[in-house]
Amino acid sequence: MLKKIEQIKNDFYKALETACGTQADLSKLKADFIGKKGAVADILKNMKEASAENIREIGQHVNRLKSEIEAVIDSKIREAETALINEKLKKERIDISLRDSLTDRGLCDAGYHPVTLIQREVEDVFTSMGFEILDGPHIEDDYHNFVALNIPEHHPARDMQDTFWFSDLQHLLRTHTSPIQVRGMETHRPPFKFVGPGKVFRNEATDASHEMVFHQIEGMMVDRNVTVSHLIYFMKTLLSEIFGRTVEVRLRPGFFPFVEPGFELDIKCLICGGKGCPVCKQQGWVELLPCGMVHPNVLKCSGIDTEKYNGFAFGLGLDRLVMMRYGIDDIRHLHGGDLRFIRQFKAY
Ligand code: PHE
Repeated sequence: MLKKIEQIKNDFYKALETACGTQADLSKLKADFIGKKGAVADILKNMKEASAENIREIGQHVNRLKSEIEAVIDSKIREAETALINEKLKKERIDISLRDSLTDRGLCDAGYHPVTLIQREVEDVFTSMGFEILDGPHIEDDYHNFVALNIPEHHPARDMQDTFWFSDLQHLLRTHTSPIQVRGMETHRPPFKFVGPGKVFRNEATDASHEMVFHQIEGMMVDRNVTVSHLIYFMKTLLSEIFGRTVEVRLRPGFFPFVEPGFELDIKCLICGGKGCPVCKQQGWVELLPCGMVHPNVLKCSGIDTEKYNGFAFGLGLDRLVMMRYGIDDIRHLHGGDLRFIRQFKAY
């Protein structure tokens, strides 16, 4: 019996040498030797033949052999797995030096779009003041774009923004970033403050100051005892950071169903310094930032206790901000796809 065990051991090592080392091969080898119908199991079946005093000794030998075979095979399987992963990684390796050769051929001569650049700057200023950054979908539903913002069906304010509707008349391309407010309130409990940048879409004719697709960054802060002075403080801080100098602002009343009171925040024209020019339409002031104190209906609709909390919201036009910063007098330059225009911003 002991001889037989020794024989199995020898057979095993021989078989291991000739096996080709794949996982499947090794698993088969394992089954052949220590599986339920393997060589070792056969010995156990024939134990009856052994005399009582031998049984103990044979048992110990068999168990030792079993553990040995198991350990050897398992370590080989692990080796095979590692080799497989390494091979896969080798194949998936990315050649990061490729970019250079593309640049040589003028194919990767890229820079960021000025709207992206200003969006990042605005985000940086707000994150430094403790605001979170949220995102939202371009395709919105009627509820998030209108209803939850205190603009029910048939409300005349729906006509303030010309909307691209989908044929189901339930979905639309968001006309403003304000639905991000609604989505933010769905996932946050006060106090909170966040901004949400992104593209917005309006079904209207284009001219020097209107585009069908443009960019806004929405902002919202909800806490106890929020006042208009908080709103002015945050807006003035932002604009001074972006323009690198103290910017003069003024508030005029403005109507938006989701804020009460609502304001239009204007800044003194940075192009003409307030004297009057085509950009400020000879007014000396540029309308930059609609904002206001969040209407209680909007908070209530999202389940916020208006006895305890209130807040402010704003919707800053990023394209107009770029225009003011660089003295661009026609919004259509920004998304017209003329590379000569866009390349000018590469250095920034
Ligand atoms: N969503 C408004 C618009 O695009 C702007 C706005 C946002 C006004 C937040 C007030 C508060 O016209």
